[in-house]
Amino acid sequence: MADNKPAILSVYDKEIELPILKPTVGPEVLDIRKLYGQGDVFTYDPGFTSTASCDSEITFIDGDKGELWYRGYPIEQLAEKSHYLEVCYLLLYGELPDAGQLEDFENRVTRHTMVHEQMNNFFRGFRRDAHPMATMVGVVGAMSAFYHDSTDISDPWQREVAAIRLIAKLPTIAAMAYKYSIGQPFVYPRNNLDYASNFLHMCFAVPAEDYKVDPALAKAMDRIFTLHADHEQNASTSTVRLAGSSGANPFACIAAGIACLWGPAHGGANQAALEMLQEIGSVDRIPEYIKRAKDKEDPFRLMGFGHRVYKNFDPRAKVMKESADEVLDLLGIENNETLKVAKELEKIALEDDYFVSKKLYPNVDFYSGIILSAMGFPTAMFTPIFALSRTVGWISQWKEMLSDPQNKIGRPRQLYVGSGKRDYVDVAKR
Ligand code: SDX
Repeated sequence: MADNKPAILSVYDKEIELPILKPTVGPEVLDIRKLYGQGDVFTYDPGFTSTASCDSEITFIDGDKGELWYRGYPIEQLAEKSHYLEVCYLLLYGELPDAGQLEDFENRVTRHTMVHEQMNNFFRGFRRDAHPMATMVGVVGAMSAFYHDSTDISDPWQREVAAIRLIAKLPTIAAMAYKYSIGQPFVYPRNNLDYASNFLHMCFAVPAEDYKVDPALAKAMDRIFTLHADHEQNASTSTVRLAGSSGANPFACIAAGIACLWGPAHGGANQAALEMLQEIGSVDRIPEYIKRAKDKEDPFRLMGFGHRVYKNFDPRAKVMKESADEVLDLLGIENNETLKVAKELEKIALEDDYFVSKKLYPNVDFYSGIILSAMGFPTAMFTPIFALSRTVGWISQWKEMLSDPQNKIGRPRQLYVGSGKRDYVDVAKR
């Protein structure tokens, strides 16, 4: 990949050649792996705003154009024409499956949707009012205490089984976390239901009566899963890669990813965005919140707005916005005040120089909560749904990292600005 025109970096009295690596598409990168050895200096990039941590074939984002591809396929096409388990196959194996491969993959996932019966006991250890993300971090981490036959990361077959188990069982665990939080009995997965229908059934069915999944809602749910499936080297994916680089087992790595995703600056923003829209409450209160978002002295930010990479519309937000109209219409919900506030807030913000100059647009979290709330999910379930959707992305990136011959433990350095060396002083003399 290196081009034959290296960059020349002049450090003190040295000229250091840094190869320039060319991508399939997107920015070229300076290969600085030899910099410390040759120049005795580190690079400095808190938040990794200008740093590529790896090379990857899985997802490409063009932040300026607002484009997102999974294995080269634009997200708009996948959201419209594909479905989540086919997207899982694509992300895991790199190509769209033929009919036989797809059927085999769907059967394998379907037959791993149940969890070990003893895992039910874990939930009883949590308070009923625990946030479902807290429960999920705990239970997913505990999977390594049950599925010992898929924790040896040096065995490709065990890596494969762990990937299938995680994709299959995360919806079951998320649904169990929800049921536990509302004091209802767990509902087992059903092999005659598709992935999204199974999740809705496990969340909303009760033993006392039959529950029929609305196919249109299942399709909307499936599309939400697809839109969240992967997103290049975001914070939680980087967490999974860093955890995996130490050789930690896949269940521990995904639990680490769930913990990172929970933050309101990341996947927790979908819950925070809906709560913000509900707090605004009506269109006439929008200017007050726009003012607060622009006030440097006020920590308030427009949740669901802005993105490290997208400096244009997040293509997922566009699809989500269209889906919000469809789902509310399907559910016969008219004049949804929250959706009205969201659309007006987006319009006002995108005409305001502060947001335009900083290139702040709605992101994937801005509209998703409106759909999930209309479907009947409490806000606390929004990020668990993001987590179960993103599990395939995390595990695909984890598998790619482990099969990379360059793979080594991730260990960043620092700019040390603490005290110089000094001697210990006895407490009597301090
Ligand atoms: C996700 O990385 C991914 O790919 C993540 C994700 C995925 O699929 O994995 O896309 C999912 O996490 C989406 C983002 C969800 N988070 C939110 O919606 C929370 C609100 N957004 C922000 O906190 C912020 O925009 C981030 C965290 C998303 C991005 O932050 P950056 O890239 O570090 O940008 P920044 O904080 O440096 O902001 C640049 C400027 C700042 O002003 P100045 O210091 O330059 O004057 O824009 C301002 C910020 O104050 N700003 C906002 C704002 N977001 C940024 N001002 C008001 N409201 C906002 N939402």
